[in-house]
Amino acid sequence: MNRILLLLLLVSSQPLFAAEEEREITLQLPPASLEKWYRPANERDVWLHTMFQLRREMQAVSEYAALEDTRLLKKWLARLKQDYQSIGDMVPEWKDELETGLLEKMSKAADSGELEKLQTLQRKLGKSCQSCHVEYKLSAALRYRSPDFSRVLVESEETMEEEKYGRVMSRLTMLVNRIKIASEDQRADAATTALDDLQQRLQDLGGSCSSCHKQEHQRQQLLGKQMQDSLDRVRAGIGKGDAKQVGRYIGKFAVDVCASCHAIHRMQSDLRELLSEK
Ligand code: HEC
Ligand code: HEC
Ligand code: HEC
Repeated sequence: MNRILLLLLLVSSQPLFAAEEEREITLQLPPASLEKWYRPANERDVWLHTMFQLRREMQAVSEYAALEDTRLLKKWLARLKQDYQSIGDMVPEWKDELETGLLEKMSKAADSGELEKLQTLQRKLGKSCQSCHVEYKLSAALRYRSPDFSRVLVESEETMEEEKYGRVMSRLTMLVNRIKIASEDQRADAATTALDDLQQRLQDLGGSCSSCHKQEHQRQQLLGKQMQDSLDRVRAGIGKGDAKQVGRYIGKFAVDVCASCHAIHRMQSDLRELLSEK
C-alpha cells in the first residue's frame, strides 16, 4: 500500500519537475547594419577580420606593457584605438556601448609611463569586449557566416529548371521511400524507375556544390564512388526481388549521403534561416 502511494506520488510529481527544469534560451539578434560587413554584401568578412585584429592588438599591448617597451606599446595602442573606434563607425547602433573613454585613459597612462594603471584599464576594456560577445557573438556568427542554402538553386539536367533546396530534398525523400515501398511489395519496375530518378536528382544536386566549394573533393566525398556502390547494390537487389538487400543498401546510402550531408550543413542552415526570419 505504501509502495503504491509512493509510486503514485512519484508519477504525479514528474510533470512538476519537468516544468521546473524547462529552460528558455534567448538569442539576441545583432543590429541589421552588421550585415554590410559580411559577405556577400561585402567582399570580405570585414567585421570578423577587425575582431581578429583587435585580439592581436590587445595581446601586443599587454606584452609590451609587461616588457615596459613604451615605444612599441604606443604603436599598438594607436592601432587598438583605431580599430576599436571602427566598431561604432561600422555599426552605429553599438557606438554608445563602447568604452572609448578607457582607451583615452590608456593612452594617457602610456604617455606618463604608468604601466600598471594601463594594465588595469586594459582588463576593464577586455570586459567590455566580453559583454558584447556574450550577447551577440554566437548569433552574429550563425546569422552571417553559416552556409546560406536559401540562395542556392539546383538545376535539373532534364528540364533545365532551377529548384530550391527544400523542394529538391522533399523529392529525394519521396523517391527513397518509394524504392523501399515498391521493393517490399515486389513491384520491381516501379522501384527501378524511382531509382533511376533518384540517381538523376543526385547528379543534379551535385551540380550545386560548386556554388560554395571551389574544389571537387567535397562532392566526391559524399556523392562519389561509395554512394554509387550502395546504389548499385540496391539495383541488384531490386533485380533479384531481394527486398532485404534493397533495404540494407538504401539504408547505408541514407546514412552515408543524406545524414552525413545534413550533419555538415543542415543544422547551421536551419539556424541561419531561423535567425534571418523577418
Ligand atoms: C559591440 C560588440 C562587440 C565588441 C565591443 C567587441 N566585439 Fe568582438 N565580436 C563581436 C561579434 C558580433 C563577433 C562575432 C563575429 C563572427 O563570428 O562573425 C565577435 C567576434 C570576435 C572574435 C572572434 C572570436 C572567435 O570566434 O574566435 C574576436 C577574437 C573578437 N571578437 C575580439 C574582440 C576584442 C579583443 C574586443 C575588444 C577590444 C572585441 N572583440 C569587442 C562583437 C563585438
Ligand atoms: C551554401 C554553401 C554550401 C553548399 C551549396 C554546399 N556546401 Fe558543403 N560546406 C559548406 C561550408 C560552409 C562547409 C564548412 C567547411 C568549409 O568551410 O569548407 C562545408 C563543408 C562540407 C564538407 C566537409 C568537409 C570539407 O572538406 O569541407 C563536405 C564533405 C561538403 N561540404 C560537401 C558538400 C557537397 C557534396 C555539396 C553539394 C551537394 C555541398 N557541400 C554544398 C557550404 C556549402
Ligand atoms: C548538400 C548536402 C545534402 C544532401 C546530400 C542531402 N541533403 Fe537534405 N538537406 C540539406 C540542406 C542544406 C537542407 C536544408 C535546406 C533548406 O531547408 O533550405 C536539407 C533539408 C532536407 C529535408 C527537409 C526539407 C524541408 O523542406 O524542410 C529533407 C526531408 C531532406 N533534406 C532529405 C534528404 C534526403 C532523403 C537525402 C538523401 C537522399 C538528402 N536530404 C541529401 C542538404 C543535403
